[in-house]
Amino acid sequence: MSIRLFALVLLLCLFLNSITTKAQTYSRNGMVVSTSSVASETGRDILKKGGNAIDAAVATAFALAVTHPSAGNIGGGGFLVYMDNEGTATTFDFREKAPLKATDDMFLDENGDVIENSNHFSAKAIGVPGTVAGLYKAHEKFGKLSWQEVVQPAVELASNGFTMNWSLYQSAQYFEGDKERYPQMQGFFSNENGDIVEPGDIWKQTALGNTLSLIRDKGSDGFYKGVVAKKIEAFMKANNGIITKKDLAKYVAIERKPVFGTYKDYQICSMAPPSSGGVTLISMMDMMEQVSFDTLEFNSTAYVHFLAEAMRRAYANRAKHLGDPDFNPDMPIDFLLDKQLAKEQVATIDMQKATKSDSSKFGQMPEGDNTTHLSVMDKDGNAVSLTYTLEYAYGSGMVDKELGFIFNNEMGDFNPKPGVTTTRGQIGTKPNLIEPEKRMLSSMTPVIVAKDGKPYLVIGSPGGRTIINTVFQTVLNVIEFDMEIDDAIEAMKIHHQWLPDRIMYEELLLSPDTREALKSMGHEMISRTRLGQLMGIIYEDGIFKGASDSSSGEGAAVGY
Ligand code: DON
Repeated sequence: MSIRLFALVLLLCLFLNSITTKAQTYSRNGMVVSTSSVASETGRDILKKGGNAIDAAVATAFALAVTHPSAGNIGGGGFLVYMDNEGTATTFDFREKAPLKATDDMFLDENGDVIENSNHFSAKAIGVPGTVAGLYKAHEKFGKLSWQEVVQPAVELASNGFTMNWSLYQSAQYFEGDKERYPQMQGFFSNENGDIVEPGDIWKQTALGNTLSLIRDKGSDGFYKGVVAKKIEAFMKANNGIITKKDLAKYVAIERKPVFGTYKDYQICSMAPPSSGGVTLISMMDMMEQVSFDTLEFNSTAYVHFLAEAMRRAYANRAKHLGDPDFNPDMPIDFLLDKQLAKEQVATIDMQKATKSDSSKFGQMPEGDNTTHLSVMDKDGNAVSLTYTLEYAYGSGMVDKELGFIFNNEMGDFNPKPGVTTTRGQIGTKPNLIEPEKRMLSSMTPVIVAKDGKPYLVIGSPGGRTIINTVFQTVLNVIEFDMEIDDAIEAMKIHHQWLPDRIMYEELLLSPDTREALKSMGHEMISRTRLGQLMGIIYEDGIFKGASDSSSGEGAAVGY
């Protein structure tokens, strides 16, 4: 956007509370960005009521559990990064964990091979959910409005219904067409007559509304104890699952120290393990800090090559070292975040040709295709960056009709076979093997970047292992290439995850010449329509600028 246009927008903002231009929304009193406009409006209304960023984030997350059930959830888990307007930050880890009865060979057959789909499509694939405990804990510590006030909008959205959209309608058709794999999703999007709710009609989720009412009235205990816990245990027994009431009663969300890095004059704050996101992101930023951008023009062959090589190195370390910190007390986090390591790694990059990833050591697991991120800032400049997930879209596809929420399939994020790592699909390294009560390693990367010690950029994305890289490039686009938030989100992204050894790129955004040049340097090039689905806010000069990725049809940045 030109300076003149920007000045005009600022002027307009003096008269209006919020204005949307292109794909960007401007406001003066706070902003909520999520993949569902209904959920973003819910968060905005909480801000208007005097709620702070945590209140709005909790309300938005519960609303997403109703309006965006492919990833919004109470049956999954995630991470919340909070930074107040003075730059003090903390995080909440509400990642799912393995049930007490889990074992490191639970997804293997008698020959020791991974049973196909068992770690994603079975009740054993379900990790002990963390979302309700995490939202409760964050709200208990920082919330301003009452718990009842922030949960109530979601209760109403579920019980009274909201307007069915085309994206949900598509999901409904998809599940109809695959009754064998998704028996429990049949009827999920239907009205009381058993017909799929048509776009434009009201879709009510009465059972979910009842479960949410219990959470509203009893807090975290409404989910982890009493009738809901009893029903979850009964559901597991009936479906060959292993989660018990004891697992639920023992679940705790954990407040953890964030990981911090610096990039030039900016401070980067993100999630520590059990997410690999923060450490991997910061180590890549550290490598970028070593180069001169005079020689790395945005989207040039040299730029994409350097990005890919930085990613290759950071992801190799991720696979080797990271897991649940409570089970891996000796993870070399300080070593991975040391700028000296970045210097040494950059020194190994040949700018003329691709390095070869050593496939004899580790491989990567395939990822699911849904998760969701929300970014919130309140009028005082406090910020929340929250990413949570069911792992696959609609998780395990398993749902108890009386509880009304979908269970995750997050056990698929553990390394399924001890010691066996292949180039195609599996890692077998120890830090992320299954153990009772362990949290599975994640790639979710909720980030807050501070400038002059105050929240400046709030960003995150779904996308499995691509998350860290799409967030990484969006941060660079804003702070290195001076892009506005919508441009930073939409601009071309690539993904390299060490193994498989290849660059994924956004098909229509990388020129054919650059593609060919990268190929001749030894990179395998794989096209994707889009990478990431970023939700971000920039806050400067008293103005909030928000944007939701255009790949999210229902998404919206809503301010006031
Ligand atoms: O925690 C993780 O890294 C994965 N379970 C996230 C899955 C995901 O993002 C799929 N979404 N597109």
